Amino acid sequence: MLSPMKGLILAAGRGTRLRPLTHTRPKPVIRVAGRPIIHYAVENLLQAGVEEIGVVVSPETEKDLRLALEAYPVRYILQEEPQGLAHAVGVARGFLGQSPFVLYLGDNLFQKGIRPFLEAFSEGVSAVIALVRVENPRQFGVAVLEGERIVRLVEKPKDPPSDLAVAGVYVFTPEILEVIQDLKPSARGEYEITDAIQGLIERGRKVVGVEVQGWWKDTGRPEDLLDANRLLLEELAPRLDGEVEESHLTGRVVVERGARVVGSRIIGPAYIGEGAVVEGAYIGPFTSLGPGARVVRAEVEYAILEDQAVVEDTPLRLQESILGVGAQVRGRNGLPRAHRLVLGDLSQVELA
Ligand code: DAU
Repeated sequence: MLSPMKGLILAAGRGTRLRPLTHTRPKPVIRVAGRPIIHYAVENLLQAGVEEIGVVVSPETEKDLRLALEAYPVRYILQEEPQGLAHAVGVARGFLGQSPFVLYLGDNLFQKGIRPFLEAFSEGVSAVIALVRVENPRQFGVAVLEGERIVRLVEKPKDPPSDLAVAGVYVFTPEILEVIQDLKPSARGEYEITDAIQGLIERGRKVVGVEVQGWWKDTGRPEDLLDANRLLLEELAPRLDGEVEESHLTGRVVVERGARVVGSRIIGPAYIGEGAVVEGAYIGPFTSLGPGARVVRAEVEYAILEDQAVVEDTPLRLQESILGVGAQVRGRNGLPRAHRLVLGDLSQVELA
């Protein structure tokens, strides 16, 4: 290999399907199993030996991403408008130079990392695309394989030619930048990376598909976030660094430094973040509490509570729920026996 491999993580999207969570913060900084989604991307790149990493951000997402990634020496590249994945790569051409690179969608999670895709990037290969068999290929880029070679790629087809979806990791030679330069926007008005790869194929270049090992998640919708949280919690190594008093903890549980668990029952896998408080409460399996979150005299299960979120004195167990930063759910006594709600745009509440 001539120049060392670089990494490019895309994190400039609008995250529309995750509103209202993404009204105020970008999707890649939402925590699953205690860590911002984008941390897993950076860690997977580092583990694969990719050390020079650029992150494409938008004017709206830049501040939060810089905060979430302050522990990592990454470069930030500004994409003014989210005009498509190929556009985002084009914007990063100064950073990429003449290096081969891994393109990593900042909202994708891979259980087993990305090494197999880099290993398949051998002499004579212009691109490696991670592929995964799915039941709903219409929502993805879809590949047609002949042996190891991809012979056709289509973005979100109405009539999918196969069940092999494009997962969010690609390895490219710098030639992709030449194709992007001449690319036209798609019917939905975006510069599609899928079209750019199709351009490579039409130039006669070798584009290889490698199936993802282990699970893969595109965290587009709220249920995907909960599921990703579940999958990641299953791999958690138990650890008690916080204070635990008069409580029963079963299974894989992490209690971070500065967290307090008092008079409570926790059934893992569960993650209790730094400075979080769990008091007189039940925390059920597949629950993550962000830093400073509070669950007091309440029950929570299969849920994500972001930083400083509060569940207090609720009459029923909260399940399959996501609370954004500082969101509060409190029970109340007395009359009138009515629900009192202050909900942001596009919030969702189900009352039993
Ligand atoms: O998740 C896999 C799928 O990702 C592939 O199967 C599709 O072929 C690929 O086009 C992509 O589809 P999505 O509709 O899921 O892409 P989305 O718009 O969600 O963007 C993915 C990431 O890239 C997300 O973290 C935001 C970021 N992004 C997106 C756009 C459109 C940018 O940084 N800039 C952009 O202009």
